[in-house]
Amino acid sequence: MAKDPILLIGAGRMGGALLKGWIAKGLTPVIAVEPKPSAALLKIARKARVLIVPTIEDVKAKRVRACVIALKPQILKTEAVRLKAIAASGALMLSIAAGTTIAFLKQSCGARAKVVRAMPNTPGSIGRGITAIYAPKGVAPAQKALAESLLSALGATVWVKQESQIDSVTAVSGSGPAYVFLMVEALADAGEAEGLPRKVAEQLARATITGAGALLDAEMTEPAVLRQNVTSPGGTTQAALNVLMAEDGLAALMRRAVDAANRRAEELGRLS
Ligand SMILES: NC(=O)c1ccc[n+]([C@@H]2O[C@H](COP(=O)([O-])OP(=O)(O)OC[C@H]3O[C@@H](n4cnc5c(N)ncnc54)[C@H](OP(=O)(O)O)[C@@H]3O)[C@@H](O)[C@H]2O)c1
Repeated sequence: MAKDPILLIGAGRMGGALLKGWIAKGLTPVIAVEPKPSAALLKIARKARVLIVPTIEDVKAKRVRACVIALKPQILKTEAVRLKAIAASGALMLSIAAGTTIAFLKQSCGARAKVVRAMPNTPGSIGRGITAIYAPKGVAPAQKALAESLLSALGATVWVKQESQIDSVTAVSGSGPAYVFLMVEALADAGEAEGLPRKVAEQLARATITGAGALLDAEMTEPAVLRQNVTSPGGTTQAALNVLMAEDGLAALMRRAVDAANRRAEELGRLS
């Protein structure tokens, strides 16, 4: 018997990355609702079992295994009601839309909709992301397993026990890549200020962050131990860490930054 398709609403950056991952894992057939498919998407669709349609109304499948929502939150606000019939069929409704609560989605799609919410991050576009997932009571274990399997196309997954924790996830891993990019910029600026040519400073900063990240990934060692391993007492690293680890140093700054992001995520959720 042919498998029911997976329905993807929005095949942009994240939706497109999910689609690529599903094809690689054999999680097909897929119907993607995308009004302006990119040339790359059309090429992928031609090779795999993917049907692209311009609107939700063009989806003719009687049943779908899951409906994965990868729309911008402001678009989802008006589109969500159009997903009512799909939600009423009992399909897993998996949303990766930022700041869009399960309560809002149930209000739009029906109170009995099986909604699971997830927060990926940008490295997911190359399969190196981490996605946090939350499922309220009433979502069957098989649907939770399907949600995890679909999201693993973007990289690692982790479950959280309360929906409010999705806001904290947004503040840590959702927004986190931007903090790291800023670190590269700041390190390059500091290198230039110390007399290095701009290009060299940028090259050093970029390679240092990607190299340290790769090391962190390759070794199962705690980051604090990796840090201590490169810090000789009284040496150059120690001199810098004395500044970064001061009372008003990086830890305090990161605490404030993550708290600001968390509060903003809560605010956006209240507006949805
Ligand atoms: N990118 C990330 O790193 C990231 C991280 C965490 C969460 N998210 C969340 O993931 C969601 C998608 O983000 P994204 O970066 O993938 O956005 P995106 O690239 O803008 O993708 C959304 C796609 O949906 C299409 N679309 C617009 N209206 C539609 C409709 N009525 N029906 C079907 N498709 C429609 C858009 O087409 P047009 O471009 O033609 O409008 C676009 O291709 C957002 O809620 C975002 O918050 C993203």
